[in-house]
Amino acid sequence: MKYNIAVIPGDGIGREVVEQAVKVLKAVGSKYGHIFELTEVDAGGCAIDKYGVALPEETLEVCKKSDAVLLGAVGGPKWDTLPGSERPEQALLGLRKGLGLFANLRPAVLHNALKEASPLKPEIIGESLDIIVVRELTGGIYFGDRGRSGNYAYDTEKYSIEEVERIARVAFDIAIKRKKKVVSVDKANILESSRLWREVVERVAEEYPEVTLEHMYVDNAAMQLVRNPKQFDVIVTSNMFGDILSDEASMLTGSIGMLPSASLGTDRRGMYEPVHGSAPDIAGQDKANPIAMIISAAMMLRYSFDLAEEADAIEKAVGSVLDQGYRTGDIMSPGMKLVGTNEMGERIIDNI
Ligand code: IPM
Ligand code: MN
Repeated sequence: MKYNIAVIPGDGIGREVVEQAVKVLKAVGSKYGHIFELTEVDAGGCAIDKYGVALPEETLEVCKKSDAVLLGAVGGPKWDTLPGSERPEQALLGLRKGLGLFANLRPAVLHNALKEASPLKPEIIGESLDIIVVRELTGGIYFGDRGRSGNYAYDTEKYSIEEVERIARVAFDIAIKRKKKVVSVDKANILESSRLWREVVERVAEEYPEVTLEHMYVDNAAMQLVRNPKQFDVIVTSNMFGDILSDEASMLTGSIGMLPSASLGTDRRGMYEPVHGSAPDIAGQDKANPIAMIISAAMMLRYSFDLAEEADAIEKAVGSVLDQGYRTGDIMSPGMKLVGTNEMGERIIDNI
């Protein structure tokens, strides 16, 4: 089979990690006999430099025509002084909205070999950690009305019943295949939009009698994630709370450099990117951890192309390399072997 993939390296370490993921895909393609047709396009800071806009129309068009999008990371200090509406991050928001990718899946899985790298005590982690954050991605305060007037600035959190329903269904559908437990995170003691969120999630839950639903305020959820992460399986939450809680959840797994993500809409096309950013402080130094990006590519094979065996092969290879003791700086611990971005990519390929 032939699959069309739009590749957006972006800025900073995005470019380096994407290079590794592309290598891995090529290796998988030749081993399993698939053709991954890659079209590289610009978005983010590099697109601002080249074309004056973070998301050139052509980039969005190429992505719309593709079966999936692989994205590294966007942004950096060079563009930090631009007005909000012109920043590199707008490329991400434009892609998510433009492709209708309302469901963002962020699995936080602690690999056995990385228990040392987790900042949590071994007794809190227990045998394993496996949480998935289902983040609403095209609504809420990210897309609500914002502006300034006089000495005020404002942003608006807004959710419709339909928006909450569809993300809730994604979460319950995932929960059915896992431990059948959903924690819906909101701030319903304060926010009206959260009260609507709660009502709608309750209603959707009735369609899934075998799944247990619990509601949790976001401040408590942030605390519970480090106090007792094992109580969580599927977390469903708004765009903003999901952004914050997924960074927190990622750290439980040792490093944000380990966390992949999939952004999905109503059809199979998705965008796949690591949860981490462009890390300008280590860009261009062969230090970045490419694992989040490589596992994101595995998620693409699984969710957009239905290539479960190939996705498993990548994930197993990552596991083997970690078991063999190879570590990038972010997940390094005493006695392990420090490797760079490129070598980590090569070793993963060797294990496929
Ligand atoms: C993420 C990032 C983005 C977000 C930024 C870069 C716009 O933090 O994907 O989590 O806030 O969604
Ligand atoms: Mn984020």
